[in-house]
Amino acid sequence: MANIDTLPINITRANKSNLSQVDLSNIPFGRVFTDHMLVADYKDGEWVSASIKPFGRLDMHPAMSALHYGQSIFEGLKAYKNQKGEPVLFRPYDNFERFNKSAERMCMATVPESIWMDGLMKLIEIDQAWIPTSQGSSLYIRPFMFATDEYVGIKPADNFRFVIFCSPVGAYYPEPISVKIEETFVRAAQGGIGAAKAAGNYGASLYPNKLAVEEGYRQLIWTDAKEHKYIEESGTMNVFFVINNEIITPSVERDTILKGITRKSVIQLSKDIGYLISERAVTVQEVVDAARNGNLQDAFGAGTAATIAHISAIGFRNERFELAPVSERTISNNILNKLDSIRLGKEADPYGWVVKV
Ligand SMILES: Cc1ncc(COP(=O)(O)O)c(C=O)c1O
Repeated sequence: MANIDTLPINITRANKSNLSQVDLSNIPFGRVFTDHMLVADYKDGEWVSASIKPFGRLDMHPAMSALHYGQSIFEGLKAYKNQKGEPVLFRPYDNFERFNKSAERMCMATVPESIWMDGLMKLIEIDQAWIPTSQGSSLYIRPFMFATDEYVGIKPADNFRFVIFCSPVGAYYPEPISVKIEETFVRAAQGGIGAAKAAGNYGASLYPNKLAVEEGYRQLIWTDAKEHKYIEESGTMNVFFVINNEIITPSVERDTILKGITRKSVIQLSKDIGYLISERAVTVQEVVDAARNGNLQDAFGAGTAATIAHISAIGFRNERFELAPVSERTISNNILNKLDSIRLGKEADPYGWVVKV
């Protein structure tokens, strides 16, 4: 049997690249895929194979357990080209660690660094020509894993498939977004799987989000499951508000909020710039009061897909509060500029966030 430390990653290159058929300066989010993908299999207690091969369909058994019982997790990170044109990744080890935490919570195999990280590096090296360079664009990377037992019955699976594919993308939210504070449905309850990047969390969010879209909002702001009194997060982003020159964001001590990597970066950079920033319980009431009194200076979401998404309006019950124009928001714009400059190598990277491929 293969030893996970020495498991070789077999490489089969595509005969022909599809890159010439794609206009990298004009790409929709998540619909175009690069030439290769990584596929690794875990069988009965061991990782037995890992290969990079031409991007294509995956075969599946109708009883495949992920489809029935939801053992399925994923990550999302991005590759860029720095100013020298070299491919770089932003904080990939944080994604690797969070992935394996999600795996543990979902009773799935963890993936060794020799497959997750080495496979990722090799894949990006091979498909680096697909990394777009126009403003706001990047190569979105999707590592994911699902249970592959061919068995009907609820139990932790013994077999898993780990895959990484990549997709060149433009901006996730080209415009500022409007959000509605949700008080009926919940994303996660304490003791649940809110802190894991489990597929089911996203499936469950679609219906409440659809209702919010029908009311004229783009996304929801989730509140706590018990009292709907505290703000949690929004869509696939952690949220930040600026009231009286203080940046506030919900703390992630409880297991209901995804511990965002962009969130961590925003908190660090805010401190470095010298902003007052607090991680604490944020009540719906204080945000609504501030919006009503005109004291809500800024509000934004932070996540890999969007980086920073400015919030243009917040809905609460029957009220809708329009926020200041994005051009007037110094705090979120300064943080976004700093983050972009570090990622693209225009500014020093004091924390070693940017990792060369
Ligand atoms: C539910 C949820 N919250 C927050 C985030 C932001 O996390 P990150 O900054 O690591 O992308 C994401 C995206 O991964 C998410 O899916």
